[in-house]
Amino acid sequence: MSLKLPFFKNKQKEKDDNQFDMENIPNHVAIIMDGNGRWAKKRGLPRIAGHKEGMDVVKKIVKVARNCNVRILTLYAFSTENWKRPRSEVDYLMRLPKEFLHIYLPELMDNNVKIETIGNFDGLPDYTRESIQYAKEQTKGNDGLLLNFALNYGSRFEIMRAIKQIMTDVDSSELSIDAVDEEKFSEYLYTKGLSDPDLLIRTSGEQRLSNFLLWQVAYSEFWFTDVLWPDFSEEIFRTALQDYQRRKRRYGGI
Ligand code: IPE
Ligand code: IPE
Ligand code: MG
Repeated sequence: MSLKLPFFKNKQKEKDDNQFDMENIPNHVAIIMDGNGRWAKKRGLPRIAGHKEGMDVVKKIVKVARNCNVRILTLYAFSTENWKRPRSEVDYLMRLPKEFLHIYLPELMDNNVKIETIGNFDGLPDYTRESIQYAKEQTKGNDGLLLNFALNYGSRFEIMRAIKQIMTDVDSSELSIDAVDEEKFSEYLYTKGLSDPDLLIRTSGEQRLSNFLLWQVAYSEFWFTDVLWPDFSEEIFRTALQDYQRRKRRYGGI
């Protein structure tokens, strides 16, 4: 029927694109990409099949974020607690960044995407660190979307680390205790220089932070979906952005 003609589809797509208020796009979107294992299990596949599928979703979501003018996309890829998983799964997850970058780095370069990470970088295996370091160097001059991977990231570790560094700097008189306010404290976090997330998305139906950005999400808008990360789509991401635009952010005011 005529409604199925590509012409009409494109018209519909244009309309969807235009449903955004481009003045009210979240500057920073953070995503807890959860549900890869359950996605695989449902299909009788090993958990790592879910992680692989999830990697391709990252690519799709980066594209939407860029097109919508999101400036920072922080993706929770591996937590400080994820080391508890079976060795084979951890090994696979540690190899994924290299695989991802091998496939997508040229395209990310073409699209002016800058790659960064937050988390305990030194705690990663050499091969993971080296491939990410290479991507950071390659993309450091890009000023489009900042694609920020939280890797070996744990918010409590981040906060403890900040406190220890502040104490060291106070000890050596590099910092005066009176100068430590919220802004100064933020400078000691991995997210130094980044605005706080405006929108936090978690997939897979879980409604918890799992040690993600505890300090930074004080006033973020939360958006949850039951959809498992490998099934997350451009359309669902757009829905999240549209829902965000309907929120009234008050920051304690009226
Ligand atoms: C998220 O998916 C990816 C990582 C935590 C690395 P999970 O692997 O947690 O998948 P579920 O939650 O077990 O389904
Ligand atoms: C959070 O997911 C970490 C990442 C998505 C990388 P988890 O699957 O590790 O969280 P819990 O264990 O369900 O809280
Ligand atoms: Mg999980």
